[in-house]
Amino acid sequence: MQQPAKDRLRIVAVWLCRLIVGFTFIISGWAKAIDPWGFLIKTGEYLQVWGLNLPRELVLTGCVSLACVEFCTGVLIATGSLKRLAVWVAAAMMSVMLPLTLYIAVESPVSDCGCFGDFLIISNTATFIKNVVLSALIVYLIIAGRKVKGIYAAPIQWLQIVVTVAFPMILAFVGYNIQPLVDFRPYKLGTNLFGDAGESSTEVYIYRKGGVEKEFTLDELPDDSWEFVDMKSVGDETNGGFEVRDDSGLEMNDELSDMDGQVLYLIVSDPDVQFLSRVHLTNMLYRRAESQDVTMIGIAGATGSTLERWISIAKPLFPVYSAAPTALKQLVRGDAALVYTDGGEIKWKRTLSSMNADFGDGEWASDSLENIRPVDDGRYHLILLSIYLASMIVIYLLSLSPKILRLFVGIPKKIRNFAHSKNEHNTITLYHTMRKNIVAGNWKMNTTVPEGVALAKEVNEALKGFKANCDVIICVPFTHLCPVAAEIDANVLGLGAENCADHTSGAYTGEISAPMVASTGAKYVILGHSERRQYYGETSETLREKVALALANGLTPIFCIGEVLAEREDGTYNEVVKRQVEEGLFNLSAEDFGKIILAYEPVWAIGTGKTATAEQAQDMHAHIRAVIAEKYGKEVADNCSILYGGSCKPSNAAELFAKPDVDGGLIGGAALKCADFMGIVKAF
Ligand code: 13P
Repeated sequence: MQQPAKDRLRIVAVWLCRLIVGFTFIISGWAKAIDPWGFLIKTGEYLQVWGLNLPRELVLTGCVSLACVEFCTGVLIATGSLKRLAVWVAAAMMSVMLPLTLYIAVESPVSDCGCFGDFLIISNTATFIKNVVLSALIVYLIIAGRKVKGIYAAPIQWLQIVVTVAFPMILAFVGYNIQPLVDFRPYKLGTNLFGDAGESSTEVYIYRKGGVEKEFTLDELPDDSWEFVDMKSVGDETNGGFEVRDDSGLEMNDELSDMDGQVLYLIVSDPDVQFLSRVHLTNMLYRRAESQDVTMIGIAGATGSTLERWISIAKPLFPVYSAAPTALKQLVRGDAALVYTDGGEIKWKRTLSSMNADFGDGEWASDSLENIRPVDDGRYHLILLSIYLASMIVIYLLSLSPKILRLFVGIPKKIRNFAHSKNEHNTITLYHTMRKNIVAGNWKMNTTVPEGVALAKEVNEALKGFKANCDVIICVPFTHLCPVAAEIDANVLGLGAENCADHTSGAYTGEISAPMVASTGAKYVILGHSERRQYYGETSETLREKVALALANGLTPIFCIGEVLAEREDGTYNEVVKRQVEEGLFNLSAEDFGKIILAYEPVWAIGTGKTATAEQAQDMHAHIRAVIAEKYGKEVADNCSILYGGSCKPSNAAELFAKPDVDGGLIGGAALKCADFMGIVKAF
């Protein structure tokens, strides 16, 4: 069916917003995950400004989790998966980030917000404007995004999430324990550690006044009301070097940059937090370097008593100099890390702790330091990224095959049910869900008796060779009930009528009563189908009679409700369906109501090929359950099977049935072909 231009425009607008919001979150989460140390340092700056002193492990866990959630939310939004949840998670994040970035834009407590790590540094004002735009797009997605289908089918979305969370977690794990897999900082592999000879670096002095830190150059130092905090060297693009001094304060840069051959630098950017358990390894490493004619030099981000204390504990056999901690943290990530240079050129970098394996097996002394492979040259990142993207493509391709998709249907539901059943056994609770999954066929006015009997036999045979995960029922014309009942196995296939009279017996020419239906062996009866309401004037009043007679004769009513197109379009559908349930059924006792099967059939979806989306069905089913709960309580509502009907077919059944409140389907056209009907049965 051709979509109206307005709908097409909305779909394009939603996808555009999804891509903009999604990719902003993806890049932001990725940049944080790839360099957890950078994110940790930036978060430390914020915490310092607010005077908070939290354990490092807690902050790190928070940083990595936030990066993963941000990345995953971005991917879900960009692909239209978990439409509602993903957008609400993004909205929740924005409700924190928007005021925070406004505060940062106004007060400038930190030099840059760190949204995209070192990958992309934007001003605090630009960050705030970016967040205002994102918030507006997120609000639009909340309003208009629900009805626009995503790329991945619902039953397989959880697999997409697992893979999507794994990717940033691996990035963060390697980034924290070894080095970021991509290095966006000035001291990349291949650059010269102390810059080109003769090229001088610029010193920047950091001063604080009233909680605000500011940077000054030597010519513009502030007055005495400012308190000195730190000094750092700022190099050019490729790295202009940073100042290294010995214990007497003498600058060592020239001497170090003149050094030929290979040098292994141990960088301890913050000796205060350096793990003492690894300190002894530094001298083992020194011996290893010495045996390979590699010079080892330590550079610590401290001076005075802090440095002396570290030296007295580590007792290094190699010289240790000092430099500004900020520059060292830029050079290499980790409390204690190694930088290996050859002729001044950086060959590899990694944390000291990641060298442990080399110490453990005793072979370290013979392994060449020169041959250690850098992880931050982008290769490993490319491999991981390719694996991630390939997995996402495979998951998408899998979801195109209804057969494979069926394997994934209901897995989260099954896990929930399993957890629930465990809970039931472990705790004393009266709550017990009896609700069944059901696929029922409504043949309407189709097939002659021989054709109908043949079809019923075919379905019966198909079910015998297969263990269905749901109850299967066929509702057939009155003329077919007896012959079909004689041919099918009632344990495998349930039988029902499509209607019954609102009287038990008497002068009602042409009518078939509930006791007559029951006498054929049928156990079910469809009541209140929209075609009967529409063409035969059935009202709630007659339906109440029919329901009562069906129940009195041991038949289970499959009671249909649903709105017409105009009611869907004018937004009154929830009230319409509520009224149908209330007027048709709420005269029943809770016990009798418990015997009813409900079927939500939006009239605009019946026989039109236009199915309600799985979300629309879920919303309505949840609404119906809430209406029942209000009248009869949660237990009755939870135990009621609510089926969906309206252009349900093998290709869309899996997605519909995966919804937590959709307990099966009432099938029209697709019930007239055994293969199609069985395709729907197998969706469970
Ligand atoms: P279709 O599956 O043909 O749309 O019919 C649905 C229906 O009315 C079932 O009762």
